[in-house]
Amino acid sequence: MTRILGIETSCDETSAAVVEGTGDAARIRSLVILSQDVHRIFGGVVPEIASRAHVTAVVPVVEQALRDAELMLAEVDAIAVTHAPGLVGALLVGVSFGKALAFAAGRPVVGVHHLEGHLFATALEHPDAVPPFTALLVSGGHTLLIDVPAWGEYRLLGGTRDDAAGEAFDKVAKLLGLPYPGGPHVERTAATSEGANPHRFSRPMLRRDQRPGDADYYDVSFSGLKTAVLHAVRAAGDGLPDRERAHIARAFQDALVETLVEKTVRAVARHRRPRVVLGGGVACNGALAAAMRARLAGRGTTVYAPSVRLATDNAAMIARAGLFRFERGERAPLSLNAFASLPIPGLLPASHDPR
Ligand code: KG4
Ligand code: ZN
Repeated sequence: MTRILGIETSCDETSAAVVEGTGDAARIRSLVILSQDVHRIFGGVVPEIASRAHVTAVVPVVEQALRDAELMLAEVDAIAVTHAPGLVGALLVGVSFGKALAFAAGRPVVGVHHLEGHLFATALEHPDAVPPFTALLVSGGHTLLIDVPAWGEYRLLGGTRDDAAGEAFDKVAKLLGLPYPGGPHVERTAATSEGANPHRFSRPMLRRDQRPGDADYYDVSFSGLKTAVLHAVRAAGDGLPDRERAHIARAFQDALVETLVEKTVRAVARHRRPRVVLGGGVACNGALAAAMRARLAGRGTTVYAPSVRLATDNAAMIARAGLFRFERGERAPLSLNAFASLPIPGLLPASHDPR
């Protein structure tokens, strides 16, 4: 049995967690997440403020995670820390602190790629959400369709050409006069749309004649959809009525969800995967999970979505991915650095041949 202390500071959540176990039989012993509310005032994450807030929070958050786990630092086997990708100043806080802690405790440090963490998150709650699977990672910063034949083997199938899915939700929320972060507000507003919807936005990346091997077969794009929302809001004139706001929110969400679902279904079919694993903040969207399940029902493919706590950024997923890397014998040198962008480790060639 191995115990990993995970630390996550890549964006605006300061998080620490202890995960223990062996391989897929790992469980969360503690998880502390401190969200930086301050960014709501600015309508987005301000990198410099995020870094400073991590500096203030990281020590008490890690101490609380150890206290909740009823463990001393000496009782953990290794420290896993997110070292890429993300806001480099924010990442550096976690990386520097993780390394110092590891050095002081005489424990190894393991560097974890944030996106690999998201791939492991759902498995902490659903023991069957393990490879082989098709992953759809949709957050404020990422929109990726990944084929996962095994842990540590990742085939990037597609991504966004412009805005990330969460970013599209946030921008549309702003256009509709809803607060940041916009996803949950847009979802709630869309749910109040009643009767026939006068709006239907096009799905440009869903041409029927797309074939595997075409550059846009798995890719998505949301900037056109955002512009369509802008035009609809302008056409409504001053003082957008609630009913119209709800219809626009619903039409936007329908177009985005249908696009993501169809692209995922293509990947599932191509690689014959029995499972779909959702991750990232947009995986909290109930309409997305419901549409994915409805579309895949009867195909023998099970859809797994994490709870809100594990869908959004958290250190439990970092500790879990760190456990995987630790068990494989990986140890980071004390020169471990933070990177704003870095390819996910274990990339398979982007071949279209099923495996
Ligand atoms: O994974 P996450 O917490 O942080 C990033 O790494 O970006 O994702 C945050 C994103 C935000 O864009 C937020 O609007 C979106 O996830 N989000 C949602 C929902 N809940 C959060 N989007 C759609 N529907 C939701 N219910
Ligand atoms: Zn994330």
